[in-house]
Amino acid sequence: MNIILLGPPGAGKGTQSAGLVERHGMKQLSTGDMLRAAVKAQTPVGLEAKAVMDRGELVSDEIVSSLIDENLAAMEAGQGAIFDGYPRTAAQAADLDRILEKNGRSLDRVIELEVDVDALVERITGRFSCANCGALYHDTANPPSKEGVCDNCGSTEFKRRPDDNEETVRTRMAEYRAKTAPILPGYEERGIVSRVNGMDGIDEVAGAIDAILAK
Ligand code: AP5
Ligand code: MG
Repeated sequence: MNIILLGPPGAGKGTQSAGLVERHGMKQLSTGDMLRAAVKAQTPVGLEAKAVMDRGELVSDEIVSSLIDENLAAMEAGQGAIFDGYPRTAAQAADLDRILEKNGRSLDRVIELEVDVDALVERITGRFSCANCGALYHDTANPPSKEGVCDNCGSTEFKRRPDDNEETVRTRMAEYRAKTAPILPGYEERGIVSRVNGMDGIDEVAGAIDAILAK
């Protein structure tokens, strides 16, 4: 199965992707994670992307589509892909169709996480992750079971994203509304869109996604 998880910043795309990886052995292809890795490694892509990401704007279609192209080509044919945070523009949606076809794959489902935008700023400003393994947490909604210790790897180092401040979040939301939300009708015409209530608890959302994938 190849699926897109679609939703605004803080909707839970990364959280639900991690669950799908664990439960179904799928691979998460997050352009945000790929770009953050490039920024950290100070590659040419990272150097170009950093300022754009810090402002909350979108990195160029060429950069993100080539990241997806490289990563998908490196996957085993039988492993399902979760596209997290990609595509985000009409051009990227067209690129994805071409990239999937080239790799002998097709798009099975687009799962939209429906959320109350007012709640998202709270989710994003409360987010942190393990500095060692990247496991995602939230100050109140999803803290580690032992305070200060990662459930997944035992590390005691955590970090917060530089773009997780209120001002940047507002720009990220506006980018979503203007450029990403308009790609949904095209997928609706193909009859592959399902919606889940992203305001439910993490486990309920995971159950709803599994029910969609089992259909
Ligand atoms: P990206 O990393 O994709 O960020 P985003 O889309 O803004 O989404 P987030 O990662 O903030 O949210 P999420 O939906 O993954 O939520 P999460 O699961 O973490 O992109 C960052 C930047 O990179 C962009 O601004 C852009 O510059 C660039 N970029 C990336 N892809 C690009 C592309 N394709 N084209 C161009 N530019 C691109 O959850 C959030 C928090 O809520 C967590 O703390 C979590 O624990 C908590 N939480 C999750 N689910 C629940 C729940 N059900 N109940 C309560 N709390 C929950
Ligand atoms: Mg994410």
